[in-house]
Amino acid sequence: MTDTITKHVRPSLQQIKPYIPGKPIADVQRELGLADVIKLASNENPVGPSPRAQAAIQAALADLHRYPDGGQLELKKELATYHGVSEDMLLIGNGSDEVISFFCATFVEPGDEIVVPTPSFSEYTFASTVMAGKTVEVPLREGFEYDLNDFADAITERTRIVFLCSPNNPTGTYIRQADLESFLQRIPADVLVVIDEAYNEYVEAPDYAQGLDLLKKGHNVAVMRTFSKLFALAALRIGYTIAKPEIVSFVNRVREPFNVNHLAQVAAIAALHDEEHIQLSRRVNSEGKRALYAGFDRLGLRYIPTETNFVLVDTGVDSKEVFQSLLRKGVIIRDGAFFGLPTWIRVSIGLPEENERFLQALETTLHRLRTTAR
Ligand SMILES: Cc1ncc(COP(=O)(O)O)c(C=O)c1O
Repeated sequence: MTDTITKHVRPSLQQIKPYIPGKPIADVQRELGLADVIKLASNENPVGPSPRAQAAIQAALADLHRYPDGGQLELKKELATYHGVSEDMLLIGNGSDEVISFFCATFVEPGDEIVVPTPSFSEYTFASTVMAGKTVEVPLREGFEYDLNDFADAITERTRIVFLCSPNNPTGTYIRQADLESFLQRIPADVLVVIDEAYNEYVEAPDYAQGLDLLKKGHNVAVMRTFSKLFALAALRIGYTIAKPEIVSFVNRVREPFNVNHLAQVAAIAALHDEEHIQLSRRVNSEGKRALYAGFDRLGLRYIPTETNFVLVDTGVDSKEVFQSLLRKGVIIRDGAFFGLPTWIRVSIGLPEENERFLQALETTLHRLRTTAR
């Protein structure tokens, strides 16, 4: 019986490896019997949600019996003004994860190709594989730096989308303005370049390529942003893309009518305008970044300078062991094995006391692992 049902499961789904999210705090508390656990594993904003967003949600609770605005008109109006684009250039998703799926559902037929950096965010491959597409991986260069020539060289007649993640997860490295512009001039007009800028609002580098500037110059790019990171609304699931109206109108065809819930829409509008929360979030991140750098320098560890709210650092030992050891001390991080980097870990930048606790736990862990390795 099972055999007859499963035999019709689409073959491309056999290749899909389940996404492994950062371990939730409650799981670690339960499994290890720990009361005090901190999570620096999912690049969340440690400051917490914007008070203005929380108030907007409170005010919207009485409307929960109504369907959300399927056209997301208010939010689109706000985002259009915020970014200086027209409303028909915006498409909002249940997290930018959903927007990635939309792009693949719109453009990828079986056997078509997407080009992605590696290591990078795994959702591009996931979404393309669901559509029976192939992923062409382009390794980042020394120091996990982008060389966009490698991406241009990877494009074939079957390429439908080039996904660029800038700043990139898990490396924190980014694409420079001049490089992106010359890359876009080189690639075929029928290949869409999607730039995932989930960490855009954390960027400090002056030469960072703002995908939106290039879109406004007429280039064939779609920019993706999210409310999950600096805007601190990860639980509500809301992200969006900005692209040419003709692209948006087709991508919109694969969108369910009520894909973004009402609370997410009102909270996003409020968070977008909460300057105090935005500034505080940026400051905490910038200071936390420098504290982590100083700690890694003290421990003699190589790290990759980051433009995001996380840092990739080489522990020089088995990162799975580091992960387990930190877990026992109530600190959740990501081990690099998932990204094909077996001695690296990725740690999200936390509040000052969380960064300090992580560094102390790391120091004790490395001391033990280095001693036993001898
Ligand atoms: C590069 C990148 N894109 C997209 C996402 C997903 O964002 P969302 O929560 O909007 O689905 C993440 C989340 O970690 C990410 O790192």
